Amino acid sequence: MPALVLLGAQWGDEGKGKATDLLGGSVDYVVRYQGGNNAGHTVVVGDQKYALHLLPSGILSPTCVPVIGNGVVVDPSVLLSELSGLNERGVDTSKLLISGNAHIITPYHVTVDKVTERFLGKRKIGTTGRGIGPTYADKINRVGIRVQDLYDESILTQKVEAALDVKNQMLTKLYNRRAIAIEQVVEELLGYAEKLAPYVADTVLVLNQALEEDKVVLFEGGQGTLLDIDHGTYPFVTSSNPTAGGACTGSGVGPTKISRVIGILKAYTTRVGAGPFPTELFDEDGQALRRIGGERGVTTGRDRRCGWFDAVIARYATRVNGLTDFFLTKLDVLTGWEQIPVCVAYEIDGRRVEELPYSQTDFHHAKPVYENLPGWSEDITKAKSFADLPKNAQNYVKALEEMSGAPISAIGVGPGRDETIEINSFL
Ligand code: IMP
Repeated sequence: MPALVLLGAQWGDEGKGKATDLLGGSVDYVVRYQGGNNAGHTVVVGDQKYALHLLPSGILSPTCVPVIGNGVVVDPSVLLSELSGLNERGVDTSKLLISGNAHIITPYHVTVDKVTERFLGKRKIGTTGRGIGPTYADKINRVGIRVQDLYDESILTQKVEAALDVKNQMLTKLYNRRAIAIEQVVEELLGYAEKLAPYVADTVLVLNQALEEDKVVLFEGGQGTLLDIDHGTYPFVTSSNPTAGGACTGSGVGPTKISRVIGILKAYTTRVGAGPFPTELFDEDGQALRRIGGERGVTTGRDRRCGWFDAVIARYATRVNGLTDFFLTKLDVLTGWEQIPVCVAYEIDGRRVEELPYSQTDFHHAKPVYENLPGWSEDITKAKSFADLPKNAQNYVKALEEMSGAPISAIGVGPGRDETIEINSFL
């Protein structure tokens, strides 16, 4: 059964867009299963660079059906402007399918996200401010608005009333803000109904039927393993499940149908927003990684925090996702360092710890234990096979593979679509 999951093995921004797009030509469906327009994918096709926030990167492949699954939260204004931006550049978006069960990010979710962060002050999460957390909170509280609600005005009005009941009390009494008018929200949401209608579908049925017909379905995770609400560095996480199990709940496809789970792994580590990050660098090496790797958020434009590769995290990602393969990205960024430190374990209060500690306190105290691997200075961006890589780059990859617990089946050596070395085919 050709159902593959591609997900971030670290804190997101590992270069998933490149990986999904690489497979796009041979994949029939690309499905997003969680998150919303907090995800940023940069995909380079020819000399064109596309920044996608909500749409699955398969949208750029003419033969592929892009799907927004039930587990995604959708901001209709962002979706429509992303679609029209692509249309203006000649990309056909008519095949897109959106689950009627996906939840809608409304303007009040964005407001609540921002005021909550401000209220948290020093303890803030550093969210993308796109309303993601409040929308998932409403979903779990059973006061969310779903895409299908746009097609029943009376239900929509009742649901917006229910959602704003408590929020308006909170906004006016706690945060000293103006109340949000129910009619205004309903009117805005109804305005999207007709424009979205051609895309709304029973995506659970569509995807399961596609799998029965032996079509290739690719599930594309947003964010990354360590940002998972259950398995990440809680509370400094996003509000959904980017880990492999999320592909099932967020799409309505059962786990027995998934054949391969591929973790995207950057050759070093980055993180956006607040929260622990044991290998973070505050020196010139960190600045160099940021500069050479272009480590700036696609969605927020924020500089990413940068550090050396952390094998403890990679091993953890292998475990919680049941990874079958890794796609190692941005190896070219490490060209030019004489020695490349790799974190092989942590030291926590004087003890050497090989695996990610479950305790938040321990993780906050974790100090990286480094091993230095010899670097290389040759340009590797033209390498087409593993054998084309300089010996030290080969050894770096082999060392990472051994430490991380799953085979590295592809290596990104440059941002372009063809700047990838395929070792084992994913299909
Ligand atoms: P939220 O997803 O906007 O609620 O933000 C929660 C945390 O996840 C913050 O630390 C964000 O910076 C982080 N985050 C959300 N989306 C991404 C992403 O696509 N890449 C990296 N970090 C992200």
